[in-house]
Order: sequence, then structure tokens, then C-alpha cells
Amino acid sequence: DAADKGGWSSFMAKEINDQPDAVENTVRGRVSERGVEIPELTALGDERLAGIDRVIIIACGTAAYAGQVGAYAIEQWARVPVDVQLSHEFRYRDPVLSERTMVISVSQSGETMDTLMAVKYALERGVTTVSVCNTQSATIPRESDAAVYTHAGPEVAVASTKAFVAQITALYLIGLHLGRVRGTLSAEDQARAVEQFETLPAKVREAVDTHDQIAQLAHWMADSRSVLFLGRHVGFPIALEGALKLKEIAYIHAEGFAAGELKHGPIALIDHGQPVFVLVPSPRTSPLMHSKVVSNIQEIRARGARVIAIVEVGDTAVLPFADDVIRLPLADPFFEPLLQVIPLQWFALELSTAKGLDVDQPRNLAKSVTVE
Ligand code: AGP
Repeated sequence: DAADKGGWSSFMAKEINDQPDAVENTVRGRVSERGVEIPELTALGDERLAGIDRVIIIACGTAAYAGQVGAYAIEQWARVPVDVQLSHEFRYRDPVLSERTMVISVSQSGETMDTLMAVKYALERGVTTVSVCNTQSATIPRESDAAVYTHAGPEVAVASTKAFVAQITALYLIGLHLGRVRGTLSAEDQARAVEQFETLPAKVREAVDTHDQIAQLAHWMADSRSVLFLGRHVGFPIALEGALKLKEIAYIHAEGFAAGELKHGPIALIDHGQPVFVLVPSPRTSPLMHSKVVSNIQEIRARGARVIAIVEVGDTAVLPFADDVIRLPLADPFFEPLLQVIPLQWFALELSTAKGLDVDQPRNLAKSVTVE
């Protein structure tokens, strides 16, 4: 058992540490100098892909948050409207589907019953179904028109970590493939994304190396009763994911918000000492969003929040307003979430450990939810 954990104290710790490989293995064989090409999508036929007029991503839990991140990128690169729907909600809204719709399911296990039933519903209506899955020959990829496997390796801990970064990576590859086939992506943007993928594993490693700093932080925060997370754009689903991790394994009330929603309600929650993690976009590449998020930080700080800012290295604008600053390597906007989520994973793990809980097997949860 200890051997399987590779010397780590838990599967989750091992799997967080596996993330540079998870990303690298998912990209391998799908990126060349010509750009991104996923053979499983090529097999569907370029004409079919070029004719898609709507994409719906269906998934549950962490996989749905990966879907939300991926949606921003697919929409940007392939210029096609993308919605994300929870698998268990999808069928009941009588969705508008046609043979030009593509449904992309995202599932680590490939056995989540809610997602499987949603995929079957889509198939019955003649929709093109693509499965993003981490488990070879699982039911969902077998049922789908195409399977784009993530190669994160087996994920044992109930709390998903490496599968999440691999899912975002796979969705980005799909967005870049569609963008190329549909002619919506410039050669320059394609090359830029390829370059980001090449440098990503080393940056993910640096994000994993925030562990010691996060462990210190968690030590001071072990008594927290509620933790909030704020993000904008692709940082928003990361805020949701950070909150989910904390609920799942540390049993702490946590919520994620879109930073722009603060003044529409959630700011009323801010009281003296309330811990708030803020995912700060890059001031270099997203100056407008950056300044908005810095204002959000000022607003909550003025009301007593304890601010933990996750920033790119060199961002000094937040320093006067943050109690703690976690620095991550420079990356293009779509590649920031793949780094930002890692300190949040460590934080949940460390709080769970500090509370003496079973990190890998949280109460009431199963790794794969095979009932509806
Ligand atoms: C993640 O930490 C969860 N345990 C859970 O939300 C999970 O992501 C969800 O149940 C979907 O599972 P799947 O990816 O195997 O379909």
C-alpha cells in the first residue's frame, strides 16, 4: 500500500505530485509543429467538425468545473457557443439538440451514471458525442462517437486532482483541434498555445512546490469554520473547485464566487478574520481583469477579510492588501488555472490532515458514483 503511494502519506498527496506527468502525458502525441491534432477527432471527419454549431459539455462535480474552464477556451479558439450543464440536469430541461450539436462528456471514471445517461440521451438524438475520460475502455468512452483519453494514470483518492488538470488539458486540445479544422484559430495563436503546452509541466512542478508554504498556512488556519474563494473568468471555476475540495475532505463550509458577484450579495458574508482565497489574473496579459480583482481585494480587506492572494510572480499590486501571497510562474491566461488549482488542492489536503481526517476516503463519498 505504502509502495503504491510512492512514499507519500496519502494517494491524494501522490496524485497532486503526479500532475506534471499527467499534463505531459495527456498532451503527448497530440501536438506537433503543425499544431494540435487529435487522431480520434480526425476520425470523425473534418466536415462534421466544421459543421458543429453548438457544444454542450456535460459532467458532474470536479469534472464539471474542468468543463467550465474548458468552455472558455473552446469558445475562444473554435468560435462556437459552448454551454456547460450538469449531467443530472441535462435531460430534464429538454435541451435543444440537433445533428450539428456536439456533446462533450467529461468523466475521470467513465462510469458516472448521471453522465452515462446524459450521453445516451444525446446519442438517441443524433448528436455527436465525444468523451473525455481517464479510464481506458470505461462505459462512457465505449458508448461515445469518439474518446479523447486523459493520461493522468489511475486516480485512487476520492478527491480528484490530477484528473482535473488532465481534463482541462484535453478540453484545450479539443478546442485547438476544432479551431484549426474550422479555420477560426490563427497560426500564431496555435503556435502560442503549443509553446504553452511545452513549458507547462515544469510550471506545474513549480506550483506543486508551493506545498511547504501552504502547509504553514493551513497550520494557522486549522480552526477555520468557513473559507471563501474568489475568481474571475477561468479563475471562477477554480474558485468553485477550491471550495469543493475543502468541503469534500476537510468537511469545512466553503464557497466559491465569481469575483464580480461580490457586491451582488456575498460581500455580506465578509466579517473580521474571514479567510478568502483570491485568484488574481496576470497584470501583464489581463490588465483590466487584474485591476478589477485588486479592487475586489481592497473591498473585502476593508471589511476585515483575511486575504490569501494567488498571483503570478512579480505582481506587487496586491502586496499592500494581502495577508498571504502565493506566487506562481508566468503563464498565458488559459494556462493560469492549471497552476492556480494546485495550492488549493494542497490547502484542502493539509486542513484535512490537521483535523486528523482520512484524506483519501472522506465520509459519505464514493470514488465513482454509479447510481443516479
Ligand atoms: C471530485 O473530487 C469528486 N469526488 C467528484 O466531484 C467527481 O469529480 C464527480 O463525481 C465526477 O466523477 P467522474 O469524473 O468519475 O465522472
